[in-house]
Amino acid sequence: MKAIRIHEFGQSEDVLKYEEVAVPEPKAGEVLIKVEAASLNRADLGLRKGTYRIAADALPVIPGREFAGTVAKLGDGVSDYRIGDRVVGYPSLGGYAEYALAKVSEVRPVPDGVTAAQAAALPTASLTAWFGLKTDGALKAGEWLLIQGGSSGVGVAAIQIAKHWGAKVIATSGSEVKCRRLRQLGADVTIDVSENDFLAEVMRVTDNRGVDVVLEMIGGEVYQKSLQALAPGGRLFSIGGAFGALPDPPPTLTEGRKATRFSITNYLKTKPDDYRELDQILKLVAEKKFDVGIGKTFPLAETRAAQKYLEGRDHFGKVMLSV
Ligand SMILES: NC(=O)c1ccc[n+]([C@@H]2O[C@H](COP(=O)([O-])OP(=O)(O)OC[C@H]3O[C@@H](n4cnc5c(N)ncnc54)[C@H](OP(=O)(O)O)[C@@H]3O)[C@@H](O)[C@H]2O)c1
Repeated sequence: MKAIRIHEFGQSEDVLKYEEVAVPEPKAGEVLIKVEAASLNRADLGLRKGTYRIAADALPVIPGREFAGTVAKLGDGVSDYRIGDRVVGYPSLGGYAEYALAKVSEVRPVPDGVTAAQAAALPTASLTAWFGLKTDGALKAGEWLLIQGGSSGVGVAAIQIAKHWGAKVIATSGSEVKCRRLRQLGADVTIDVSENDFLAEVMRVTDNRGVDVVLEMIGGEVYQKSLQALAPGGRLFSIGGAFGALPDPPPTLTEGRKATRFSITNYLKTKPDDYRELDQILKLVAEKKFDVGIGKTFPLAETRAAQKYLEGRDHFGKVMLSV
């Protein structure tokens, strides 16, 4: 089969090699999936550079946290799926390939009305938004949520999940064109940070009270100023600092405000059964109540160009591979 492999870490996408490799064999409790679509994530860029969860002695690896397609082969003891079933897998590696493995616990069925690309785009982005907002954010109907980086894969999901739960959403982006699309997805207020100071805008919109929850993913000065946007009792949870440093541990705040860090990988490690909640999001997609927000799709052979595109600032929502 064709796959993208990394044999050595590197800053440039040149380390991504498009090569012929053997189709993997499912072990007991695993399924082999014929991949139709795979999703790119910012974590893939860290993996390529050697800063995300993989040690050099584990190379070569096939990146690709999540993918969707059809079940091609069953490992021993697998009775939940049959060959030909449409599924989405979230095993954290292996997706940039024509075939990939996942444990049964990392697989969910894809309902009618949801394409492979839509399903593959969901796990990381939508479950990060879903569980981050539910646990660390403890977001309730009627509350104000500020999303930094609204046009990111996670941001697009968070806007729609928060609106579905009855919250009020302020989302930031670096351009007015993207802000317009965020409002179409349901954001009540958008802030073009290339033109406006987000803190002043948040305070104006909330009558100087601040927001109840901040979903932060930028880091640096944006993180620091976002703390000032919290109302008393407000919760800021950070999912990463792709563009600036994060204080470690998160700072202690006054008047009941809290700052935490959330990781979907760590969350699902402690609560693997919660992966099943992806079914609720898949159902919303099937009912056309959730726009997956696929920005651009590249063929597998052009994964280098896809990663380069993700690393820039032109994309909106998810960047995908078609296989
Ligand atoms: N902790 C977790 O479990 C978890 C899970 C998923 C993702 N993440 C993290 O969450 C973040 C978003 O992930 P993603 O895959 O959804 O990202 P993404 O789609 O690549 O989006 C990142 C967004 O950040 C904004 N941006 C780009 N360069 C920037 C800069 N220099 N300064 C400020 N903003 C900039 C861009 O929006 P505009 O151009 O519109 O401003 C871009 O759309 C990443 O940091 C990722 O590592 C964490």
